Amino acid sequence: MSLSQALSDCAIKIDKIMETLLPKPEGIEAPLAEAMRYSSLGVGKKIRPFMVIQSSNMFGVEEKAAFRVAAAVEFLHSYSLIHDDLPAMDNSDFRRGKESCHKKFNEETAILAGDALLTTAFEILSDPETIDDSSVRCKLVNALAKSAGHHGMVAGQMIDLLGEGKHLSLDEIIRMQKLKTGEIFAFCMFAGGVLGGASNLHLNALKKYAYGFGIAFQIVDDLLDLEGTVDTMGKPGGLDAEAGKATLVAKLGVEEARHKAVLLINESVDALKFWGEEADYLRALAQFVLERQR
Ligand code: IPE
Ligand code: IPE
Ligand code: MG
Ligand code: MG
Ligand code: MG
Repeated sequence: MSLSQALSDCAIKIDKIMETLLPKPEGIEAPLAEAMRYSSLGVGKKIRPFMVIQSSNMFGVEEKAAFRVAAAVEFLHSYSLIHDDLPAMDNSDFRRGKESCHKKFNEETAILAGDALLTTAFEILSDPETIDDSSVRCKLVNALAKSAGHHGMVAGQMIDLLGEGKHLSLDEIIRMQKLKTGEIFAFCMFAGGVLGGASNLHLNALKKYAYGFGIAFQIVDDLLDLEGTVDTMGKPGGLDAEAGKATLVAKLGVEEARHKAVLLINESVDALKFWGEEADYLRALAQFVLERQR
C-alpha cells in the first residue's frame, strides 16, 4: 500500500476512535464539546497518530492501545493549533481548511476547547482501558507532559513569540523548532517503543528519527508559509513574514533552508538503521516531509 493510502486509511480510523473519546454537546456547556469536535474531527493530515501507529507496529503493540495513544496525541496537537491561532499568538483566521476555532466560536470558547483537548489527552493516557500496565501508563503520561509543556512545545512557542522581530542565532532557531515541533513527534515515536517494551538503545534511535523529522517538518512549514494560501494549505500564508518570525527561511534564505531540511531528513532516516521493512512507512513519511504541499 502506498504511503498516501496508508495515511488516509489511518486518518479515517483514528477519526472514528477520536469521535468516541470526545464529549457530546450537551447541557449549558455544549459549545465546549462543539468546539472540541470542530477543531479535531475530520481535519488535518493526522501525521502524529500515523507515527504512533507505525512505531507501535514495529514492536508488536496491541492495536487498541496504539490507537488510543495516537488519538490522545492528536487531541493535544489540535489544542496546540487552536491556541497558536489565537489573536494573542499568531492571529490566524483559518485552520485546516476552515475558520479557526476562535473565529467560528469566540476567543473564550477557543481557549477552553484547547484546555479541554489538552486535558483529554492525559485522561486517555492515564485510563487503564488504554494500557493495563500502570508503569507503562505513568511513563507515557510523564513523557507527554515533558514533550508538551515547559520542557518542550510550550517553551518552543514562547521562544517563537519572543523571537518576533528579533535576530535569533541559527542554533537558537533550531532549538526552538526542536522544542515547538520536534518534541511532540519524539513522543509519538517513543510511545510505540514504550508500549512495546523497547530497549533504551531503540528508544533513543526512535527519538533521534523524530527530532530530525520534526525540525525538517517545521522548516518546510516555514517554506510553505512563503507562498501558501488557504486553498493550497488550509491555512493562510505570509503570516510568518508579517509577524517577523525568526525562521530558518528568514535567516538562511529558501535554498539553504531547504538544503538543511534535506540533511535533517537524511539523518532522521539513518536513525532507523536498526529496522528493516517494518520501518518503511516511516522512511517514506520522512521523504514526504520534503515533498508536501500542505
Ligand atoms: C501544523 O502541523 C503545525 C506545525 C507543527 C507546523 P501539521 O502540518 O501536522 O497540521 P495538520 O495536523 O495537518 O493540520
Ligand atoms: C506552530 O508553528 C507549532 C505548534 C506547536 C502549534 P506554526 O505557528 O508555524 O504553525 P502553523 O503554520 O500556524 O500551522
Ligand atoms: Mg506559531
Ligand atoms: Mg501559527
Ligand atoms: Mg507555520
